[in-house]
Amino acid sequence: MMDSQVASHYSNTEIVESILSGLERAGISVADVSVDDLGPVDEFHTGGRAATEHLLKDLRFDTHKQVLDIGCGIGGTSRFLADRYNVTVTGIDLTSEYIEAGNVINKWVSLDDRVSLRCGDANNIENEDEVFDLAVMLHVGMNIQNKATLFSEVARLLVRGGQFAIYDVMLKNEAEIQYPVPWASNSEMSFLEPMQRYKHYLEAAGFSIERTDGRGEFAESFFRRMQQTSKASESPPALGLHLLVGSSIKEKMRNFSQAVFDGLVEPTEIIARKL
Ligand SMILES: C[S@@+](CC[C@H](N)C(=O)[O-])C[C@H]1O[C@@H](n2cnc3c(N)ncnc32)[C@H](O)[C@@H]1O
Repeated sequence: MMDSQVASHYSNTEIVESILSGLERAGISVADVSVDDLGPVDEFHTGGRAATEHLLKDLRFDTHKQVLDIGCGIGGTSRFLADRYNVTVTGIDLTSEYIEAGNVINKWVSLDDRVSLRCGDANNIENEDEVFDLAVMLHVGMNIQNKATLFSEVARLLVRGGQFAIYDVMLKNEAEIQYPVPWASNSEMSFLEPMQRYKHYLEAAGFSIERTDGRGEFAESFFRRMQQTSKASESPPALGLHLLVGSSIKEKMRNFSQAVFDGLVEPTEIIARKL
């Protein structure tokens, strides 16, 4: 089953312990830890927190009160949304260890009353229709083969006029990329598609496209900074994605950044609105 392969690609049973040791190394106690402190480890997408801020920058949070975070990982984006914009967030993710860790972290930062994370498949989300004002999905579509089904499911859950903010790695050139990459151990669990296909599936599911933005240059400078930091220091930073991904992070990031530098893939934003 593809779902269990995806969940085992991301599986890590020691997330909370690893983040606790990272916090200790950084000199931050759990009693004082903030949503900002956690950004380097809990935003599992190209460019981390800065990329999330860019994606959300033009959205209207006076009307967006109920938010769905699809493939929320350990919930970094969900907590950021609740903290910065005072919204209520439901996160769903296939990987049970991520959900368990994310709900522990929600308590550390006293957001457990406004952020709830649960296990689920984005293709079939157990929820009432038309309850969310905004859906976000960051670096998840690369694991999802049937984006037409996924986007119909998101359309079902959004209110009319609700927005859908996507930040995925999209295909720019059909040439083969090297695996593993952060989202896939091999090509069988990677479903990269060009932005035009995303737009097509979104429109077919009842969305209008409001904005698209290729973030290739941003990604390249993010990877260059990461390479410089890793050359300058023998050990990884106290808090970083290595705590989620483990020691394979280096090879996965190397393959991914090379594919970005070679122009094969590009992290891309799409903002769509349900008609
Ligand atoms: C690269 S991580 C991104 C996590 C999070 N969005 C973030 O940016 O921090 C991809 C996430 O998508 C989840 N995922 C993949 N396929 C999924 C599916 N069909 N349903 C729900 N979650 C899925 C994985 O479990 C993983 O947590």
